[in-house]
Amino acid sequence: MKKASFNLKNKNIIITGGFGFLGSQIANALVNEKANIYIIDIKKPKKKTTGKYFQSDITNESELIKVLNFFKMKKIKIDALINNAAIDYPPSKSKKKILKLETFSNELWEKDISVSLKGSYLCTKIFGSYMSKFNKGTIINISSDLGIIAPDQRIYKKSDFIKPVTYSVVKHGIIGLTKYTASYWGEKNIRCNAIAPGGIFNNQDNSFVKKLNQLIPLRRMAKKNEYNGLILFLCSDLSSYLTGSVIVADGGRTII
Ligand SMILES: NC(=O)c1ccc[n+]([C@@H]2O[C@H](COP(=O)([O-])OP(=O)(O)OC[C@H]3O[C@@H](n4cnc5c(N)ncnc54)[C@H](O)[C@@H]3O)[C@@H](O)[C@H]2O)c1
Repeated sequence: MKKASFNLKNKNIIITGGFGFLGSQIANALVNEKANIYIIDIKKPKKKTTGKYFQSDITNESELIKVLNFFKMKKIKIDALINNAAIDYPPSKSKKKILKLETFSNELWEKDISVSLKGSYLCTKIFGSYMSKFNKGTIINISSDLGIIAPDQRIYKKSDFIKPVTYSVVKHGIIGLTKYTASYWGEKNIRCNAIAPGGIFNNQDNSFVKKLNQLIPLRRMAKKNEYNGLILFLCSDLSSYLTGSVIVADGGRTII
């Protein structure tokens, strides 16, 4: 039997939010597998980056169409799309008031839904349609353990923080988008799966980390490189019969 390999050399992979905390990890892992990376991010990279990047806003359809035209003009097939960009709210003291449900503003609601849900829908629509013409492609959506369960606000109490309602809504919504896309483009051989990662350790407040660890069977947060293998697997043909799935990678948090 042939040895299993990711075989991602020269695969063309778009990743949104590729300059962020998780996105840059994923991008590096893919570059190590010799894939061609195309990052779409609203901000510029802090340091020199390998691969091509587009400074574009995923909520702006005409900016995304310009990105698509680049692929069309250069006759580059898109093998995979990773919908990773979202507005994340790490625990921080100052935001409690504006993030409380009682005083949550419609502006913030619209902004969060727009970036974290509409952005993924637009990228799916625009790049997925292009992929469907080639009858092959894979889309990976980044949800969260909070796309499966509700946040436990008690763990943020000492940091005087509230996890906002929009985070639950968008992360559950991403799973809906995943199932819809998988079903809709199944006949075009476009696979679409989601991962639901648990919280990644990033020097968060000690008391928050301690409380969160108690809710996780593995008793720790994820290391920042612990999702790389899953992403490589989902981008590759090793996952060729997987579509519409939600892979929950959360140290077991959502089973208890
Ligand atoms: N960090 C965690 O612990 C964790 C856990 C579970 C899930 N997630 C999910 O992983 C993904 C990445 O999270 P992260 O922690 O790396 O966040 P991050 O804030 O570090 O990265 C997000 C990236 O998206 C970009 N972005 C924001 N708005 C954009 C827009 N309109 N257009 C284009 N790019 C835009 C940002 O510039 C940034 O580079 C998110 O979907 C998040 O919900 C993160």
